[in-house]
Amino acid sequence: MSSNVHVPVLLGPVLRGLKIKPDGCYVDGTFGRGGHSGEILKQLNASGRLIGIDRDPQAIASASRTLSDDPRVELIRGVCAQLETFIAERELTGKVDGLLFDLGVSSPQLDEADRGFSFLRDGPLDMRMDPDSGISASQWLATVDEADLRRVISKLGEERHAVRIARAIVTARDDKAITRTTELAAIVESAVPAPYGRERSKKHPATKTFQAIRIAINGELEQLEAVLEQSVNVLRKGGRLCVISFHSLEDRMVKRFMRNASSEPEPYRGMPTIPEEYRPRLRVIGKAIAATAEEIAVNRRARSARLRIAERT
Ligand SMILES: C[S@@+](CC[C@H](N)C(=O)[O-])C[C@H]1O[C@@H](n2cnc3c(N)ncnc32)[C@H](O)[C@@H]1O
Repeated sequence: MSSNVHVPVLLGPVLRGLKIKPDGCYVDGTFGRGGHSGEILKQLNASGRLIGIDRDPQAIASASRTLSDDPRVELIRGVCAQLETFIAERELTGKVDGLLFDLGVSSPQLDEADRGFSFLRDGPLDMRMDPDSGISASQWLATVDEADLRRVISKLGEERHAVRIARAIVTARDDKAITRTTELAAIVESAVPAPYGRERSKKHPATKTFQAIRIAINGELEQLEAVLEQSVNVLRKGGRLCVISFHSLEDRMVKRFMRNASSEPEPYRGMPTIPEEYRPRLRVIGKAIAATAEEIAVNRRARSARLRIAERT
């Protein structure tokens, strides 16, 4: 079953975190189905501005009439690692009041079998957020070195059976190319020990492997690293950065970045005056925010979401 619906996670905390000014300029770097964007827009007046970016052409195409016809809104198909360029082209560098990145995949991407993200739905093994760029998961699996595959599954999937899974994938592909999602899911399932006891009720055995391959072929960690660095340059003083991650690796990257950008460099620590270029560029706002039990009850995707907020100094 395919859907065009994506329930935005941590909506209230995001709206409060962005500290929206009615005439401000906001960038939603992961537009998706515009769940967060639509709510941001409701808080803007006629002078406000909203720029939505997404690398998935379907996300941009599906923006509702009300959003895409709104003169305050501009939608850009592209990667958020090009944030600085997009913002500079619009002469908005240093003028952005709020930035939001809600990482990972959208529900429609997972629900649509043809996109190849889901081990539950039979479809071509693609997994590209932008189907017009890069290589599909199937193409990647056809040539990746076994040691690299093992590292990806272990690191990006945090999968303890990475060695067995990588071996099984390489053995299977030597016999026949792996082209369908359900083929990959079956290979992974047969490679890992059957779950027992409490483990039995847990996730599908291919969950972590699919996640790892998706993160790798879409270069998601590289995108995040680039966008965090650029975010500081586009925000105005007092502007807010909100990042929602669903993976502990991503959350760690965001946490580390915000901590480093908000601390005084060692040689100047405790000094009465610090040269402008060495002053902290961000101020961390509170701790990581997780979804409430109520939100998780109605939206299971929210269970691993962590929101971190920082302000440009
Ligand atoms: C979790 S969804 C966002 C959902 C959105 N906040 C909403 O409420 O509808 C993530 C979206 O970000 C997009 N995306 C992920 N990484 C991206 C990147 N590096 N550049 C641009 N878009 C990206 C995906 O294609 C997907 O549509």
